[in-house]
Amino acid sequence: MENAEREELVGQAIAWNHSMGSIDSMVFKCAVDTGIVEVIHGHGSPITLSQLAVSLPTPCTNIDVLRRIMRYLVHMQLFTLKNEGSDEEEESYGPTSATKYLLINEEKSIVPLLKLQMHEKCLAAWHIMGSCMQGKAGMSAFERMYGEGLWAYASKDPEHNCIFNEAMASGARQVVPALIDGYGEVFQGLTSLVDIGGGIGTTLRSIAKSFPHIKCTVLDLPHVVETAPSCPEVEFVAGNMFSSIPKADAVMLMVTYHSLLSRAIKNSLS
Ligand SMILES: C[S@@+](CC[C@H](N)C(=O)[O-])C[C@H]1O[C@@H](n2cnc3c(N)ncnc32)[C@H](O)[C@@H]1O
Repeated sequence: MENAEREELVGQAIAWNHSMGSIDSMVFKCAVDTGIVEVIHGHGSPITLSQLAVSLPTPCTNIDVLRRIMRYLVHMQLFTLKNEGSDEEEESYGPTSATKYLLINEEKSIVPLLKLQMHEKCLAAWHIMGSCMQGKAGMSAFERMYGEGLWAYASKDPEHNCIFNEAMASGARQVVPALIDGYGEVFQGLTSLVDIGGGIGTTLRSIAKSFPHIKCTVLDLPHVVETAPSCPEVEFVAGNMFSSIPKADAVMLMVTYHSLLSRAIKNSLS
């Protein structure tokens, strides 16, 4: 194939993939919501399609749909497939190295992030992203959609507050161990540290465990601090970072751009 022809095809494939990208997230969510992930992971060995159908929390009565969903999940590398097209043995599905991150109670579960990203309220705001270009400077799509920013909205909607805080905590559980292992020296010599916008304290709880000599304080908005699980090693201050910040040797301001991070990891491994 000529280079120009190859380039043309690659471009077409890229455009095609991006136009269908939301299907991946939707099928991923379906696997979590229906219990497919928990059943396959808990089975211990590859599970046949018919066994899977009857083992789901709400048993599946339309096995053809389940097969289509499973084939898509295999294509996404979330599960393995054995005995495809065999006349003797039924097809069966097992976990891949990605599956455990889809488990609800796994320490490094990605599910809280998925729940936030796929929440109807967040999806609705993504739909009007382009119109922000005609909006007020600094106004997010979320604010344009709901008439107030994410923080003000979360302060009045306990369910959304909880979903958001859990998603941030899940990001911290994935990233902070690497921060401590790879860059632990930045915390040596500190006696006090404030995490600004530190959410429900997941980051500082890990840091306090590894560096017990550091007095750790989280500063976040009152509606976030109110829901934080109490922890003797971490002090919580409810406030506004634009008004005042507790005194400390160092402050940290962490915003984990999960999608950029995952792409960076993927690129560094390819
Ligand atoms: C994107 S989250 C970041 C959470 C966490 N640091 C991380 O990287 O995963 C931003 C946090 O800042 C908090 N926040 C927003 N405005 C704030 C303000 N004016 N003062 C204090 N905290 C604020 C939010 O409540 C939220 O917990």
